[in-house]
Amino acid sequence: MCGIVGYNGKNKAIDILLSGLSKLEYRGYDSAGVAVVDNEIDVIKSKGKIINLKEKIKDLDLFGTTGIGHTRWATHGEPSENNAHPHISNDGTVTLVHNGIIENYQELTEKLKKHGYTFYSQTDTEVLANIIDYYYKKYKMGPIDAINRTMVRVRGSYACAVIFKDYPDEIWVARKDSPLIIGTSKDGTYLASDVPAILEYTKNVYYIDNLEAACLKKDKVIFYDLNGDVIEKELKTIEWDISSSEKEGYEHFMIKEIHEQPDVIKKTINNYVSNNIIDFAKTNLTEDILKDIDQIYIVACGSAYHVGVCEQYIIEDLTRVPVRLDVASEFRYKHPILSKNELVIIVSQSGETADSLAALREAKELGAKTLAVVNVVGSSIAREADYVLYTLAGPEIAVATTKAFSTQLIVLYLFAIELAKTKGTIDDKKYKELITEMECIPDKVQSILDNEINNIQKISSEFASAKDAFYIGRGLDYAISLEGSLKLKEISYIHSEAYAAGELKHGTISLIEDNTLVVGVVTQEDIYEKTISNLVEVKSRGGYIITVSSDNIPIDKVSNYKITIPETNKYFYPSLTVIPLQLLGYYIAVSRGLDVDKPRNLAKSVTVE
Ligand code: BG6
Repeated sequence: MCGIVGYNGKNKAIDILLSGLSKLEYRGYDSAGVAVVDNEIDVIKSKGKIINLKEKIKDLDLFGTTGIGHTRWATHGEPSENNAHPHISNDGTVTLVHNGIIENYQELTEKLKKHGYTFYSQTDTEVLANIIDYYYKKYKMGPIDAINRTMVRVRGSYACAVIFKDYPDEIWVARKDSPLIIGTSKDGTYLASDVPAILEYTKNVYYIDNLEAACLKKDKVIFYDLNGDVIEKELKTIEWDISSSEKEGYEHFMIKEIHEQPDVIKKTINNYVSNNIIDFAKTNLTEDILKDIDQIYIVACGSAYHVGVCEQYIIEDLTRVPVRLDVASEFRYKHPILSKNELVIIVSQSGETADSLAALREAKELGAKTLAVVNVVGSSIAREADYVLYTLAGPEIAVATTKAFSTQLIVLYLFAIELAKTKGTIDDKKYKELITEMECIPDKVQSILDNEINNIQKISSEFASAKDAFYIGRGLDYAISLEGSLKLKEISYIHSEAYAAGELKHGTISLIEDNTLVVGVVTQEDIYEKTISNLVEVKSRGGYIITVSSDNIPIDKVSNYKITIPETNKYFYPSLTVIPLQLLGYYIAVSRGLDVDKPRNLAKSVTVE
């Protein structure tokens, strides 16, 4: 998935484009480019990160006040200057940037070739520029007609910004499935794939729906539907502030966001709990709706899926309602069997991940109720789900999620407790006890950050050159081990696997040899002895053991490196154990000198299939 940005107003566009692209770089960093309208349309592109583009631009006089920009996550055509956006139609009539995938681009290429079009890149986006050009010239009905005919003709996902040579003071946008916001201020109009790109200039934004378009003039925005009729859109105000998309003195966004967890966990709890009572009124998730739920299906991708693995244990244990789980890319094509009173929960930080969005639509299609646990207000998944529980993590910039993960855990703890009360599987005393203990989580996370960081930094430096790692645990400890292992893989590129501790001896233990790094998560009082015996088995084959456990667990005899977390209720340990696991991944990656915020081949949320 890519990031697009645009500005049309009084000020120099290039500064706004470059600062916007820097804020969108977590969406892809294979190449970047801008188009700025002055006397003509100047297009500058470069391979790699924004810094390379800035280098190319620094000596150029780009005074234009209209422009569009792009940072790329390569899908069609390798990362190169030639495949970088903006792409231009054959004679320069159309210049555009695009986030998404044109699925029928080969068929369109053949059609256009029959009309004499030629192609310089391997991208689907160049085809989009030429098909708009084709309709623009064929029907001579102006930009909106050409864009609408194109939207009818192309298949796939797109958020695109287009400059027509004949209309140099206008930027045209259109979207289907890919995210796009439009901003306005007294200095002009803005477009971007995500809020942080324009937060510095405005908090006043519009969201356009699928198959809608808009024309950004210097002082206003005009919205169109697919018939070309002008439509009204509601102006919304963004809650987030600019500081949340700055590093504020931290070396990386990831470590900054790790330190923000006590605050955002507290904010998320307070958003739904007052006077020890959970209140979902804002979300219409009423008691009647909860009462009828007889099955739950949690569907997500990446780390969000690991939240689901944790919550399956908790929801089933607390409510006795069966919970199924799936990664979204499997769920959307497996024709799931859903019961009439099934609730499908989609967990997503961005609310734009293509597989999760498609899974939501599939669940609705099959008649299930849908609940979205989402961090980005106004995102597609939030807008299309029947019910939404927002997490209040604020903008998350680092590609590897941390604070959003922690707030997703909290929201689903609250959901589980409220459902258990509604189902009568817990009494009022237990209900209040759980909420009281949950409200202690922010301080307990803070104490881990205060007391264990130096220890974890020291341990991490020991494993900077590790080749393989195994994370093991049982129950909720196994569930959180999945996330710990992914964190290490994502940012340090060390091969890592998470295993249910009891499963190791049925094969994988053959991989354990001298100095193999094994991280054992041991918190669950009813089964910790089992996990310790599994760690003893690993140690006897040469494994080097890092343990994450609470004080009440007698771990010393098996642990080479001990990380201690405060005690809490058995259901809430994932919120505490994940912190040292995030820090381990972070400090090992830093000690390998890697770009922690923008790991290779990854993107913050994948809006293409
Ligand atoms: C990946 C991100 O692209 O998408 C992960 O790198 C994330 O951090 C996953 O967990 C799912 O994204 P989302 O936005 O749907 O939670």
